[in-house]
Amino acid sequence: MFEKLGPQAPDGILRLMQMFRDDTRTQKIDLGVGVYRDASGQTPVMRAVREAARRIWEVEETKVYTAMTGDQTFLAEMQQLILGNVELSLMGAAVATPGGTGALRQAFELVRRTSSTVTVWLSAPTWPNHPAMLDGMGMAHREYRYFNAETGGLDIEGMLADLEQVARGDVVLLHGCCHNPTGANLTPAQWMQVARVLEQRGAVALIDLAYQGFGDGMEEDALATRRLVAHLPEVLIAASCSKNFGVYRERTGILIATGASVMWCRPI
Ligand SMILES: Cc1ncc(COP(=O)(O)O)c(C=O)c1O
Repeated sequence: MFEKLGPQAPDGILRLMQMFRDDTRTQKIDLGVGVYRDASGQTPVMRAVREAARRIWEVEETKVYTAMTGDQTFLAEMQQLILGNVELSLMGAAVATPGGTGALRQAFELVRRTSSTVTVWLSAPTWPNHPAMLDGMGMAHREYRYFNAETGGLDIEGMLADLEQVARGDVVLLHGCCHNPTGANLTPAQWMQVARVLEQRGAVALIDLAYQGFGDGMEEDALATRRLVAHLPEVLIAASCSKNFGVYRERTGILIATGASVMWCRPI
């Protein structure tokens, strides 16, 4: 069986990381994987994370399975962090995932389950793993304009015009804050314009929230997500804890689905 599998194309970022390691120059700057490093070049365990791990180690009395969806306290606290001080009864259905990547994968799986003809709309450009995952899963995707290379900023007119082409039930993937790779972000007023177009088109927003707290602050960076959740009947949120907790190797993330119709399936 395995001989039928050809070699994979080398991953560009991993290749860049290897080139960085092999480079003997002392003045080099690592522009590979975006992980936090302190002045000594280390990716430290944050004090709060170390303390939390210590407390868990002290009080944890069992290693029995959690619920299928993951630790319920984690799910509730993460929803508070992302959605704000929402009533427990208003929270969506949520599942713990292996990082933000796992959350995106789960989101795509969920979408594919609801329709085989759905198209997922991605910003041009976007994080390369978005199209890579969709290609791997055989799911259709299209691009909406996002970045204007001439101005070095957002192409809001192009974005809104392209989102007008979205079909009912299509999924529009949006970076909730700190757009990767452009760093060009929408203003609160522009987010409302996008929300209105998605509402008119009957589209589902899938928000990739990988950098909450890295832009303008924890609350500020969640604002667009909260606005979309308040405005749209159905929203999916794929959030990562890798960057803002500095727990890259723990593969910690969450997928949240909000909307009236998710109430019946929560919590498992
Ligand atoms: C835009 C974006 N989404 C999702 C992820 C995935 O996060 P994780 O490392 O938690 O899988 C990243 C990580 O770089 C990212 O940049």
